[in-house]
Amino acid sequence: MSRSSAALAQPQLTDVTLTRDDMGFISKLVYEHAGIVIREHKEAMTRGRLARRVKALGLNSVAEYCAYLKTPQAADEIPELINAVTTNHTSFFRERHHFDHLRKDVLPRLVQERSGRRGRIRIWCSAASSGEEPYSIAAVSRDVLGNRSDVDFKILATDIDTDILAKAEAAIYSPDQFDRLPSDVKPLLKLENSGRGEARISDDLRRMIAFKRLNLIERWPMSGPFDVIFCRNVFIYFDTQTKASILDRFVTLLAPGGFLYLGHSESLPQPHPQLRLIGRTIYERLP
Ligand SMILES: C[S@@+](CC[C@H](N)C(=O)[O-])C[C@H]1O[C@@H](n2cnc3c(N)ncnc32)[C@H](O)[C@@H]1O
Repeated sequence: MSRSSAALAQPQLTDVTLTRDDMGFISKLVYEHAGIVIREHKEAMTRGRLARRVKALGLNSVAEYCAYLKTPQAADEIPELINAVTTNHTSFFRERHHFDHLRKDVLPRLVQERSGRRGRIRIWCSAASSGEEPYSIAAVSRDVLGNRSDVDFKILATDIDTDILAKAEAAIYSPDQFDRLPSDVKPLLKLENSGRGEARISDDLRRMIAFKRLNLIERWPMSGPFDVIFCRNVFIYFDTQTKASILDRFVTLLAPGGFLYLGHSESLPQPHPQLRLIGRTIYERLP
């Protein structure tokens, strides 16, 4: 009997047993390639996520998957493994105080400074996930910029996870994601009906953003400077050494007087001589 007809006759169950050795092997691989530390209490979650790859590859167990990852032809699988283990939780206007700060305290001043000579304003959203964060940035930016064309404004939105970036670029969301949004920010997203009962972010906001894959622990191709960097709710997956090295590189790319936003439970691994805390997880780059 062929493998596929056997599968039809008897639904195949994936063996998701994850031995200590396999867990150690996967954790090391994920750390080396993404800087993500898989903590021991996340074992059940990791098992579930690996099961998706086991199934997709037509394998029978996590043990077989680990063996596959040790073969030379597994190089193409590493990005898929990283896509599978990343946590992409996000939402529109999450941790709203950052968007309020950007809208009221940062952008009006930048626009005033840079307008007229087509001066540049650059924002980097460095763990963009499925797009809710960069579209929220675009929404408040469009509100401040209006229709003016005398400023060269761009948002770079990056993430390591190629699957989630494809979702971000598609810009299609379930309407219930907008249900609980405060009434003063919802209209800023300029939602359009996608025709499938889903809502689509308007082309106007989409055009403000360039989506690219970027691994925070690898080389970055951009030279900056950025006026604002969002790096929210990704430092929690990194160890102190990784955070410190990324932070140093953020500082070199941030314009003096620029701002870095971290996530609600995140802080600097150690005080940085060129960053000053000026609000709730808001850091200003000193001259
Ligand atoms: C929990 S989400 C945070 C999304 C958004 N910043 C927010 O706060 O709502 C974390 C994101 O970081 C990304 N990520 C994890 N490791 C990364 C790395 N080494 N380089 C770039 N992005 C990474 C994940 O793919 C995921 O989309």
